[in-house]
Amino acid sequence: MRELHEYRDEFPILAETTYLVNHSLGAMPRRAAERLAEFARMWAERGIRSWAEGWWATPWTVGDQIGRIVGARPGSTVMHQNVAVAEAVVLSCFRPVAPGRNRVVYERGNFPSVRYLYQAQPDLEVVVCEDDAELVERIDERTLLVPISHVLFKPGEIQDVEPIVRRARDVGAHVVLDCYQSAGIVPLDLTALEVSFAVGGSVKWLCGGPGNGWLYVRPDLVESLAPTYTGWQAHARPFGFEEEMEYAGGIARFLTGTPNVPAHYAATAGYDLVEEVGVARIRESSLRQTQLLIDLADERGFEVMSPRAPARRGGTVTIRVPEFPAVHAELAARAILCDFRPDAGIRLGPHFFSTDEELRFAVDQIADIVETGAHARHVGAVALH
Ligand SMILES: Cc1ncc(COP(=O)(O)O)c(C=O)c1O
Repeated sequence: MRELHEYRDEFPILAETTYLVNHSLGAMPRRAAERLAEFARMWAERGIRSWAEGWWATPWTVGDQIGRIVGARPGSTVMHQNVAVAEAVVLSCFRPVAPGRNRVVYERGNFPSVRYLYQAQPDLEVVVCEDDAELVERIDERTLLVPISHVLFKPGEIQDVEPIVRRARDVGAHVVLDCYQSAGIVPLDLTALEVSFAVGGSVKWLCGGPGNGWLYVRPDLVESLAPTYTGWQAHARPFGFEEEMEYAGGIARFLTGTPNVPAHYAATAGYDLVEEVGVARIRESSLRQTQLLIDLADERGFEVMSPRAPARRGGTVTIRVPEFPAVHAELAARAILCDFRPDAGIRLGPHFFSTDEELRFAVDQIADIVETGAHARHVGAVALH
């Protein structure tokens, strides 16, 4: 078993930067470039034969690898472009929406992709709750879907999913669990949680890059659903090019059109490393390092916006200092990569390859910038990613 610091060579950007933005864009694994080169080689040398030699199947072969990381059974997870598309596929299973069951209940802290999608549907009534406790109370017989985040993106707070799932099940509603901020950093067992659906992406802790959203459907629901947002990859015989739709058996029925093959090739390099290290070991390291960040922030008198209780803490620590957008820009100028969110603060997201020295260095630099006013030249900075 490799020690965690021995993985640093797998991530080229660590040689040049203090990389603490894995909650936004996880560091690129060196092998992702090799996988992309393999995709290009197949395109160049195998041409049309590539579809049968693996390309066509990537939505479910790669989906199964995600499944292993998030505790889903084989054949229950497929790849999509992003979370917005995956949620749209879920919603499309319930069209036309029955007037008596047209409510979507979610938390204010949900990611915009999710909020905007449901808000834009004229036949849905959206109920916005302040926290996970209120959510449980507001779910009732009129509720169709409960799209929630496992870890909220701004404060990095873990939500108490089980009571929400229980309540939803009691009234016949479906939970759609957004695992984007937990997959690869917080252990997950989707099978045990019994959520109806789960979605996520790979840009962050899975270090898989863009174009690698995913959708999990609880196995006992799969055959009973017929997504109306669909395409030829969801057909039982796609290469029959038949005039009428006949859904594929199994999880393929939740697909749409031609898959994003190069993205899927790139992504498996990150998934392989996450699988090799193991999410339990990653979580152990993350809990220790996020605690270190909280302690360092406390020593400096910085406000910590993320939860202090380990059970509620995701992989990110959000620290608020005066004029934090400008402080963030000055950190970037010093090759310390992190990000910030309006109304929250600077987000620091170490991953399994981060060292304690890097965390001390980052917090020391924040203190130096605040004390010397070195950020003055960046005042007015806005979030660009
Ligand atoms: C919780 C959460 N959901 C979803 C997304 C992204 O959504 P999409 O895949 O639609 O870009 C993010 C961040 O980018 C996120 O933090």
